[in-house]
Amino acid sequence: MSIKITYLKSSKAKSDANLVLFSNDKFNIKTLKRYLSVNEFSYINDLLKTSDLKKNLFLFDVSSKKKIVIISIKNNIKLSDIENLGAEFYGSVKGKKGGEYFLNSDTIVGNNENFLGHFLHGLKLKSYEFKKYKTKKEANIISINVIGNKNKPSVLNQLKFKSLEEGTFFARDLVSEPGNVLHPDEYANRLRSLKKIGLKVIVYDKKKLKSLGMHALLGVGQGSVRGSYLVTMEWNGTKNNSKPLAFVGKGVCFDTGGYSLKPARFMEDMTYDMAGSAAVVGLMKSLALRKAKINAVGVVGLVENMVSGNAQRPGDIVKSYSGKTIEVLNTDAEGRLVLADALTYTEKRYKPKFIVDLATLTGAIIVSLGSEYAGLFSNDDKLSNQILNAGEKVEEKVWRMPLHKNYDKLMNSKNADMQNINYVGGAGSTTAAQFLQRFIINKTPWAHLDIAGMAFSKYGGALNSGGATGFGVRLLNELIEENYE
Ligand code: BES
Ligand code: MN
Ligand code: ZN
Repeated sequence: MSIKITYLKSSKAKSDANLVLFSNDKFNIKTLKRYLSVNEFSYINDLLKTSDLKKNLFLFDVSSKKKIVIISIKNNIKLSDIENLGAEFYGSVKGKKGGEYFLNSDTIVGNNENFLGHFLHGLKLKSYEFKKYKTKKEANIISINVIGNKNKPSVLNQLKFKSLEEGTFFARDLVSEPGNVLHPDEYANRLRSLKKIGLKVIVYDKKKLKSLGMHALLGVGQGSVRGSYLVTMEWNGTKNNSKPLAFVGKGVCFDTGGYSLKPARFMEDMTYDMAGSAAVVGLMKSLALRKAKINAVGVVGLVENMVSGNAQRPGDIVKSYSGKTIEVLNTDAEGRLVLADALTYTEKRYKPKFIVDLATLTGAIIVSLGSEYAGLFSNDDKLSNQILNAGEKVEEKVWRMPLHKNYDKLMNSKNADMQNINYVGGAGSTTAAQFLQRFIINKTPWAHLDIAGMAFSKYGGALNSGGATGFGVRLLNELIEENYE
């Protein structure tokens, strides 16, 4: 369902139109009397007396045509809870007939001047749906007319919210596309189109990657009839040449497992194995749209992990861009092979202030953390804490997991410099992270986010209605805004 928000100059609602009003935490609606008719007031007041006031919101059908929504604002409400409230409001009116609402901003309680912006942001994020392949289009629109003078977000804030929404939705679109549509060739083309918003996009194809020596990445894609790519997206938002912040993403457009084939059940989920790259792309789009005053670069490795006469075999040994050799004991541990080359290239080419990579890297992180926290692995406490705090703030939470040289040892190989899985077993997410760390050559502050449990939501979460979440876009934007801008 799409949402249309209009800010009206007037502070009056049409008398028979649906109303959205705010109250204090106890649903004390006396202050709202002047926006309600006598009948409406007593009707609502009576119903509230027998209601569970711990709820955040009530929707009253005051006539066959008119609805009044009362939303309670708890004392000292957190920004993320304001966004959740907007999402909850969307949930309560979604699918109802008569989709025009007058939201009275004068009734907003408390002095959080960003309340309305965050409320509408949460509402928008929750309303996203991917309906591209439904041939029956539903034309349902909810329009929200904001009246009153309080709390209207500044032009700058509106731009910020909008750019975050667009970045998040772009990431969700990419993740939602099926594997037959968003294969590496198509993905690379969609990234080229980002040039028009001011990003410098460079696409390295197979031939170029061969000459650079990125055989870890190329090995993963070699069984596919599609191309394999490394794509860099640069945003230069400052006049100086200060070191960029770097973001690297796993873009496995489909992961069959290769010859270490995955079971049939749920293999279809592996269309979202490019969600790490989508978060990077969505972030870069947001930064460009809001003209962030920083230098940043996004680097994504785009491949398809298939089975064919030319696909990689278990036991193959490949030479990575770093020069280190890898014994590919399991072709399903492919994400780390793609990231290995992307990480070393990013560090060498850009000498960034830090590198954050995002990847749907291991099933094991879902065993550890489920769909509540992404796993965070890092060689740097300061960067870790910045990411942890940003995550708490925007409710894209991360939990720090250990790295240790004893885990690192498990990745040593008899036949090459290292192998891509550990045979001892256990700590699968950590050993994957240890593998990645071997490709950070110059001790650049680095953090790895394993988002396998966060990128896709079967049942929906606070700010998404199920499907692709866009996890990472708002987290990393917050990291930048709070600490580097
Ligand atoms: N893309 C998967 C990880 C994954 C699993 C993401 C479930 C989302 C949901 C990754 O490429 C993979 O297959 N990892 C293997 C690693 C193993 C072979 C060491 C895994 O987790 O089983
Ligand atoms: Mn895999
Ligand atoms: Zn994978």
